[in-house]
Amino acid sequence: MEQYIIKGGIPLHGDVEIGGAKNAALAILAAANMTNETVYIDNLPDVRDINALLEAMEGIGTRIERVGRHAVKVNGSSVENFIVESESMKKIRASYYLLGALLGKYKKAQVPLPGGCNIGSRPIDQHLKGFKAMGARTKVEHGFVIAEAETLHGAHIFLDMVSVGATINIMMAAVMAEGSTTIENAAKEPHVVDVANFLNSMGASIKGAGTDVIRIKGVRALHRTEYSIIPDQIEAGTFMFAAAVTGGDIVLHNVIPKHLEATSSKLMELGCRIHEYDDAIQVVAPAKLQGTHVKTMPYPGFPTDMQPQMAVSLAIADGTSIVTESIFENRFRYVDELARMGASVKVEGNVAVISGVERFTGARVSAPDLRAGAALVIAGLAAEGITIVDDIYYIERGYENLDQKFQGLGAKIEKVASEKEIQKFRLKVG
Ligand code: UD1
Repeated sequence: MEQYIIKGGIPLHGDVEIGGAKNAALAILAAANMTNETVYIDNLPDVRDINALLEAMEGIGTRIERVGRHAVKVNGSSVENFIVESESMKKIRASYYLLGALLGKYKKAQVPLPGGCNIGSRPIDQHLKGFKAMGARTKVEHGFVIAEAETLHGAHIFLDMVSVGATINIMMAAVMAEGSTTIENAAKEPHVVDVANFLNSMGASIKGAGTDVIRIKGVRALHRTEYSIIPDQIEAGTFMFAAAVTGGDIVLHNVIPKHLEATSSKLMELGCRIHEYDDAIQVVAPAKLQGTHVKTMPYPGFPTDMQPQMAVSLAIADGTSIVTESIFENRFRYVDELARMGASVKVEGNVAVISGVERFTGARVSAPDLRAGAALVIAGLAAEGITIVDDIYYIERGYENLDQKFQGLGAKIEKVASEKEIQKFRLKVG
């Protein structure tokens, strides 16, 4: 079992390169199966979730050719099995994107009921509602979701809640359906737009992605394309908060500042200065962070995936702050871990009341999920003394070389795998 060990208290300085968006890449890779021609995708992050999906795709017969670390050629013409059966698939929520992609192309799909981060109940009823409206039959049997149809037809679908996954999945199922589909109350996240742009570059006809009404006209077939995935706004935001909590000054490259507006505006409320460039953003932390309030909302609101990183910043800010989580009910599981580092947080339902403390003190903590794990790492970067973060498996699902990127900004952080290596690090950093 690997851990991150961190000697905190060093302000981050310098430049960091942000990778491609994991959540966009998961959907785009699944969608790449929808043509029989070869699709080239780059700016792909090299993280566990992506590799698990690629492995599952190979399992159904997709031909995958790696072109370096961040690019891949995908050919879905040899898919001969619509049953996705892979142990690793159960661990990632986005396995459900193969449902929309295979149903859309072959009118048949069987995918393990999705797992993913334990951040609350994560039903897929809205995905299934969309598929059914297009003429599919769906059922859950022996741990699998099964969807099939003789033909798929266009439909008018009103989502009961804003769901990124349902919006993308229904969009994929609809691109080759007969007639037109409208998705109302659609999610507006940048990766919804990225997937729509990708599908359009393969010949789909999708209009309105990025607004709450998406209209899709079914086409007969999709064709080859070359596509570069958008930068990861959550990875970027994580580094921005890391700069804030350590009193640092960093420049992030390969970002789209527009996608980061909700995060940037909260960082400004915390007292940071933000400078936006075409594809870069600079964060300069104040001497002391100021407390504020935040509520997670679908895009363009403050992202739930940034909530733990924001809360870590508020935990060492002046005053009392309130964090309201309105997307996932179980997203405060890191609070007990943060308390071990000296934070003072009271959780009541979906609200956390945070009384800022002067500083964190290093402790041994466990990552409860992907984003909360990253938040504990940034708390460790700010803490006095040594922090060890266990269960970094979760963090590596969505962050590529997190330790090396922080090292590049001057942090003392290493990935270790034994008590001996932990002792060695302690001796080295003094
Ligand atoms: C995606 C992201 C995740 C992010 C989340 C919200 C991926 C792989 N994951 O997850 O990192 O935290 O968006 O931005 O892209 N819901 C239902 N029924 C459904 C679908 C969703 O009740 O059929 C509820 C969920 O329980 C949740 C809310 O809707 O409360 C939003 O979920 P959704 O946007 O679907 O999240 P994911 O697509 O799972």
